[in-house]
Amino acid sequence: MRILVTGGAGFIGARLVRAAVAQGHHVINVDALTYAASLSAVWDLDEMPNYTLVPADVTDGAAMRRVLSDHHPDAIMHLAAESHVDRSIKDAGPFVQTNVVGTFTLLEAVCAYWMDQGQPADFRFHQISTDEVFGALGEDGVFTDQSKYAPNSPYAATKASADHLVRAWHATYGLPTLISYGSNTYGPGQYPEKLIPLALTRAVAGEQIPVYGNGQQVRDWLFVDDHARGLLSVLERGRVGEAYAIGGGTELRNIDLVRALCRQLQVKRPIAGRYTDLITHVPDRPGHDFRYAMDTTRAARELEWCAETRFEDGLAETIDWHLRGVPRPEMTEHNHAVPLGDVA
Ligand SMILES: NC(=O)c1ccc[n+]([C@@H]2O[C@H](COP(=O)([O-])OP(=O)(O)OC[C@H]3O[C@@H](n4cnc5c(N)ncnc54)[C@H](O)[C@@H]3O)[C@@H](O)[C@H]2O)c1
Repeated sequence: MRILVTGGAGFIGARLVRAAVAQGHHVINVDALTYAASLSAVWDLDEMPNYTLVPADVTDGAAMRRVLSDHHPDAIMHLAAESHVDRSIKDAGPFVQTNVVGTFTLLEAVCAYWMDQGQPADFRFHQISTDEVFGALGEDGVFTDQSKYAPNSPYAATKASADHLVRAWHATYGLPTLISYGSNTYGPGQYPEKLIPLALTRAVAGEQIPVYGNGQQVRDWLFVDDHARGLLSVLERGRVGEAYAIGGGTELRNIDLVRALCRQLQVKRPIAGRYTDLITHVPDRPGHDFRYAMDTTRAARELEWCAETRFEDGLAETIDWHLRGVPRPEMTEHNHAVPLGDVA
């Protein structure tokens, strides 16, 4: 397939692009190269005949129309987004712009392109969404792909808005769409503002590791390569107009996750003191969702997909990557808008 991936220089996008190129798909990577992008994660693909990078912004309708007519994709995988909850609380404007206006702009361009092509039934527009659109769970229960939307953060609200646009473009114009709800994703290459890479960066520097509130919030952790494989399964086997929950099946309280990370670090890079002594509880985030968990039965049944990476192994790979000092954009005063660890 010729797959146009938006946000393919981001954390999940880069691993998805690598997996798709390795499977022989032709990938057109459309990315605005914001602070969250990492060209070092995809630079070596420039050598590949089945990979093209197009620096462009999804809110630019003319650029989207151009890339579609230049590259003739069979499928769109839409990952480009502003993705950091704390930033969305500080300033929701860029989230509305990229996640809502950007998705609308892309949908308009893609729908016109699809109609010009004679509305091929095997075309796909895959919207990459998040379990956060469903809001918070209590101690029990799980989200499914049928759960009611109830977003709590500006980030989640803009992702929910984008999902609704995608759904409407399917119902109204017949565009063959798919939606996937991924759970909290971790792994090598994540920008160091999210909980795991932030905790690692701080711990290795001997600095305080911030944990929101009492750290009792529960997240369902999914290794990035399992997520990428899940997205390709949705694209290849998902039923048009449907949505699929892609969860890691590893529920952990934030405080337990940070302690597990400190324990592994103590073995891999021993220090005289204890990394756990660096853990510092900081005031909770407003509207902080208590718990997320996903029922992935449908993905297992219809897509033959399930998460395969044990959390300890995925965490070890993530820590090893950090300790090797693989290049990542540095946090600067300019791009490090919020100094606390996010768990989104
Ligand atoms: N990280 C997670 O835990 C997680 C979980 C579920 C779903 N998701 C979703 O997966 C997608 C990717 O997440 P991520 O963690 O890789 O994000 P990320 O922030 O690491 O990467 C986002 C990428 O999108 C690009 N981008 C941003 N604005 C753009 C624009 N206007 N036009 C074109 N490109 C633009 C950035 O340059 C960057 O390369 C997002 O849609 C996110 O909502 C993420």
